Amino acid sequence: MKWYAIFLTGIFSVFFLIIFFFIKAPQAASSDHFDKAFSAQLEASDIPKTLQTPENLAAGKLLFITSCEHCHGGHGQGTPKGPDLSDSVWIHGKGSYADIVSVIQDGVEQSTMIAWSNRFRKSDIELIAAYVRALQKGAQ
Ligand code: HEC
Repeated sequence: MKWYAIFLTGIFSVFFLIIFFFIKAPQAASSDHFDKAFSAQLEASDIPKTLQTPENLAAGKLLFITSCEHCHGGHGQGTPKGPDLSDSVWIHGKGSYADIVSVIQDGVEQSTMIAWSNRFRKSDIELIAAYVRALQKGAQ
């Protein structure tokens, strides 16, 4: 009888660990604006996987707030000085991640949208583009 009780305890603790792993871990990983639905949206998007992390999107947002907000608005909603970047209407390209990278790099001739390639490293442009792309997926 005794070995049987120990065996059951063992089974129970393994079961508990599995439950704990599957239920607790994802909850701990998600933050307010990074819920399951948003992560799924990102995963289905063309944003490179390595840029889809909360840390990288936050870094892109910070660069966006510093350099782009005064024309495009804090959430990319647009201002009289620059178009909306959070909707599905695009002047240059179709709003894909790659389109956004090239507009930021090369700018738009004859406009106040300058080429940012000599102000930012390529990796920073990629962080900003990932954040801008995520705006259409509901990023804050
Ligand atoms: C001085 C104002 C200004 C600043 C600062 C600025 N932009 Fe722009 N941006 C514009 C304007 C104006 C356009 C539209 C240009 C046109 O089509 O004539 C534009 C266009 C764009 C587009 C293409 C939009 C579309 O519908 O195709 C993207 C993407 C973009 N900007 C991203 C950025 C990012 C990212 C930053 C910061 C690194 C930035 N912009 C900074 C004024 C600005």
